[in-house]
Amino acid sequence: MTDIRDRKKDHVELTVTDGTQYNTPTGFDQYYFDHNALPELDYNSVTTKAKLLGRTFDFPLFISSMTGGYADAGPVNAVIAEFCEAENLPFGVGSQRAMLEDESLTDTFSIVREKAPNAFIASNIGGAQLIGGLKANLLKRLINSIEADALIVHLNPLQELMQPEGDRYFKGILNGIEKIVSDTQLPVIVKETGAGISLHTAKRLLNAGVKVIDIAGAGGTSWSKVENFRHTNQKANHSFDEWGIPTVECLIELSRLECERGFEMIASGGIRSAFDIAKAICLGAHFTASAQPVIKAIKEDGYEGLETLYKELKNDLKTILTLLGHPNILKLNKSDLRRKA
Ligand SMILES: Cc1cc2nc3c(=O)[nH]c(=O)nc-3n(C[C@H](O)[C@H](O)[C@H](O)COP(=O)(O)O)c2cc1C
Repeated sequence: MTDIRDRKKDHVELTVTDGTQYNTPTGFDQYYFDHNALPELDYNSVTTKAKLLGRTFDFPLFISSMTGGYADAGPVNAVIAEFCEAENLPFGVGSQRAMLEDESLTDTFSIVREKAPNAFIASNIGGAQLIGGLKANLLKRLINSIEADALIVHLNPLQELMQPEGDRYFKGILNGIEKIVSDTQLPVIVKETGAGISLHTAKRLLNAGVKVIDIAGAGGTSWSKVENFRHTNQKANHSFDEWGIPTVECLIELSRLECERGFEMIASGGIRSAFDIAKAICLGAHFTASAQPVIKAIKEDGYEGLETLYKELKNDLKTILTLLGHPNILKLNKSDLRRKA
């Protein structure tokens, strides 16, 4: 058995190594763009601004929930927070379960509000922690510790089942989500962690009052693979390493529902380039999110690593928009994509 702090630390170390990504593709590689040889606009007039939950950000990328709850997590969260404050990007802290169990770990989360007084920051808690309802004082502690702008609930049954010490109780999570939606004034975002949200799951979440769904589909970080790396070989079970619905399949299914139900969809799970970002928006996403490339950039080169990654994403997205003849991301649509034969 390992402590939740060791687990969170292992996750950061393991996800930046090779071998923890799905072999299953996201599906973005099945498309290419409908090149416009007469864009009739200037590169410098193109903007990457994007809206989510009524707020305008400089770029359609949410830095996915990742860390907190152990000593070294504070500095990582500080880098993400400073960066998002400077670049006007939204981000989520990692699961705050550890600080609910041990109050002394609160600083590793609350540092984000010190470093990013104006940024959009989301709290994060697992669906399993909502079974039977989250006590009002704990919900308050979660939100107040970072003065959160939104609350993210993560669903990760695959990951939990691959962890010898993981949760085995999943009954009552939907009720828990419904309750938390009515207990908080904050918008509730529900995300998977890489195995995807199906149409059926999305409908149940919307019926529970959820306003934003982050599909977090398969094709990026595989939590079965991550957890398997933490086991001794005898305990590892690789049968589920490729389990999950590819990101593009989730996107296409949920975009049909978007027209009927009017919610906002974040595309994530294997978002690795501006090409993925643009394609996701063409296929119906309002915004995108990414985790592994961000933690990798920070581990390799700290704040500068993140700057280099972001500069490339931003330049490439502006180039893509120019080559499609679009002044902004709102113009991206399905007809900008062609399917490979
Ligand atoms: C180091 C690391 C830690 C993570 N911890 C959390 C977490 O605490 N809560 C959560 O909702 N998701 C967590 N995730 C999952 C990501 O937010 C994301 O949904 C998933 O990794 C798929 O995105 P990716 O393919 O861009 O990595 C974590 C991801 C990484 C890489």
